[in-house]
Amino acid sequence: MSAVRERASTRRGGPEALPGALEPARERRGDFTRLVRALPGDAVVFADARVLRLHPRVASALSRHRVLRVTAGEALKSLSSLERLARQLAGVPRSATFVALGGGTVGDAITVLAHLHKRGVRLLHVPTTMLAAVDSSVGGKGAVNVGDVKNALGVFHGAAETWLCPDFFGTLSEAQRREGRLEAWKMAVTLDAETFRRWSRRAPADEVLVREARAMKEQVVAADPFETKGVRVVLNFGHTFGHVLESTSAYRVRHGEAVGLGMLCALDVGVALGVTPPAVARAVESALPQGDGARARLAHLAARRDVATVRRLLAADKKGAGRGLRMVLLRAPGEWTVAEVPESVWAPLWRGGWPA
Ligand SMILES: NC(=O)c1ccc[n+]([C@@H]2O[C@H](COP(=O)([O-])OP(=O)(O)OC[C@H]3O[C@@H](n4cnc5c(N)ncnc54)[C@H](O)[C@@H]3O)[C@@H](O)[C@H]2O)c1
Ligand SMILES: [Zn+2]
Repeated sequence: MSAVRERASTRRGGPEALPGALEPARERRGDFTRLVRALPGDAVVFADARVLRLHPRVASALSRHRVLRVTAGEALKSLSSLERLARQLAGVPRSATFVALGGGTVGDAITVLAHLHKRGVRLLHVPTTMLAAVDSSVGGKGAVNVGDVKNALGVFHGAAETWLCPDFFGTLSEAQRREGRLEAWKMAVTLDAETFRRWSRRAPADEVLVREARAMKEQVVAADPFETKGVRVVLNFGHTFGHVLESTSAYRVRHGEAVGLGMLCALDVGVALGVTPPAVARAVESALPQGDGARARLAHLAARRDVATVRRLLAADKKGAGRGLRMVLLRAPGEWTVAEVPESVWAPLWRGGWPA
């Protein structure tokens, strides 16, 4: 194939798009039991066992497809679970489509598996948590953890399609919904002052929040697909200390909650460095939908780990690479910057339990 034709064939929606190409995924919306008719016969569906239990109609709609049940959670994001799954894939050809049916941990793990299986197969996301719908199913990143280092090994492997089936969200707890909302707010806070103000005035319906957050993230990803241009890094707002809180709690603090608390840390660091005006920090903190008690929870979690552990985790986190700790900080809603954060700034905050 000539270089020109090859490029043309990888364009969005092209039938021959290379597996994993970082193009915006085709979005389909509706009831899963109807959409499933569009699933190729050679699809392998990696499905969160809990979701299949909660949605028996989905389980029976998949009766004619190959389904591998997985247990969601950070433990799924590991090389050992990828190996366990890979052992069941002997004979699955490169032309197959992998379907990640579940939340962000299923999506992240299966993205890596899709990237590695036969050097790359077609991927389809069916996000079943709000967090996965607003964030992890957009942008083509997948990763596994190594020890207590979150996302230590990762790939870029874009999905060809994403199916948004709101029925799944009906079985999420309020806490799970809040996790998705927090990742959505991360985008409004950092990327779009107008959306931030509109959402602050009146909390958007979850459906609106999912749609608008996906659109905001897609714009960032389009501007910097491989996180090389200093744009996509903005999506890490709240994740520096968020990942520390996940790791130091042995992943008992779930990702969305950790990111919510991590955004409070980022605001505090921003204020301490003189980057974030205190009034901006207050406005953002009161807009974030984390409910009462977030500060107390943060203080409780920080008290459980010493600064040496945090220092090691920050150094292992990709955002701490090389030059010392760098964090995405807020100047104003929709205006962010990346700043060096010396230990003399973050350590006293950590030790003091992140006082408001
Ligand atoms: N790749 C990315 O760009 C990106 C972005 C953000 C987050 N992430 C990753 O996403 C992960 C967090 O995602 P998550 O919170 O969806 O995790 P998850 O997959 O562990 O799901 C959370 C819980 O919800 C349950 N669940 C899933 N769907 C459900 C449903 N419809 N009803 C009831 N329960 C349901 C799961 O069984 C699990 O217990 C983290 O590992 C994070 O690092 C990745
Ligand atoms: Zn996140």
